[in-house]
Amino acid sequence: MNVKGGGQELSLRERLRVLGEDVRYVPSSFEIIGSRGKAVAILEFPEEAPEHVKMKVAEAVMKVNKNVKTVLAKSSERKGAFRLREYELLAGEENTEVIHVEHGVRLKLDPRKVYFSSREATERVRVASQVKPGEFVMVMFAGVGPYALMIAKKQPLVEKVVAIELNPDAYNYMVENILLNKVEGKVLPVLGDVKAVARNWYSMCDRVVMPLPKGAHMFLNEAFNCIRPEGGIIHFYHWASEYDLYSEAYLLLEREAYLKNRSVKIVDARIVSEYAPRIYKICVDVFIKSSHF
Ligand SMILES: C[S@@+](CC[C@H](N)C(=O)[O-])C[C@H]1O[C@@H](n2cnc3c(N)ncnc32)[C@H](O)[C@@H]1O
Repeated sequence: MNVKGGGQELSLRERLRVLGEDVRYVPSSFEIIGSRGKAVAILEFPEEAPEHVKMKVAEAVMKVNKNVKTVLAKSSERKGAFRLREYELLAGEENTEVIHVEHGVRLKLDPRKVYFSSREATERVRVASQVKPGEFVMVMFAGVGPYALMIAKKQPLVEKVVAIELNPDAYNYMVENILLNKVEGKVLPVLGDVKAVARNWYSMCDRVVMPLPKGAHMFLNEAFNCIRPEGGIIHFYHWASEYDLYSEAYLLLEREAYLKNRSVKIVDARIVSEYAPRIYKICVDVFIKSSHF
């Protein structure tokens, strides 16, 4: 939950002011992952924030949000293939496994072991809402399954959602989440590298989702090959500078189409979120036209 601008932010800051703390270091927003019963709050502090202030903020977060049982502070950027970051445990329980509920989809996960961002729920709903009955969908870089499960929930008549993930912890949670949401048979979890396993579904997909802004472009060959000869949609995620949001993504897609002797039609292009100052995560939805001439 992003509480930026909400009443909770005010009460947190006010509580700290009353305690005589310097509210300069209090984050203006933070993320809560979990449920009413148990949640984890993830905060980002400026590097110079004193340790005692971070602890006071953590205590205040737990007092204001009774469901928060652990407060974590980000202590690194996201790194490596699994896109994980390091956290400092500021307050509460060591066990950070939670069940997060997103538009009725239940997602069991530990934010310290897997990538997950609750702030991307709206984007998942946007993509899932486009899926039509009978579609065969692939979600590359599937994580604990939020896209795949949202699709299966929003479109129960989907033929199949193949969900490929490299991180064994994320894959294991995805397997559990498929059972939790009762979509066994609809969502097929696959543990592996998209480069190695996507070939099993070449020419079979109506839609491919590529939610890995850092590097999805290196898997365009596999994504194009998965699209059926009759045509289909790719949701392509990329990072871009605010000075030129879409040119690079268009170029990458058009280049791949050229290599495959296919043509593309841009259906939509949008900013999904701000990744860093002046750097955005974008999504381009592209229709890969039929290869029959
Ligand atoms: C940015 S996260 C997105 C996870 C999920 N789709 C979500 O929205 O929460 C990217 C995921 O891709 C996985 N990944 C990275 N490289 C991969 C690869 N070559 N094949 C399969 N999964 C990969 C990472 O482990 C990570 O879980």
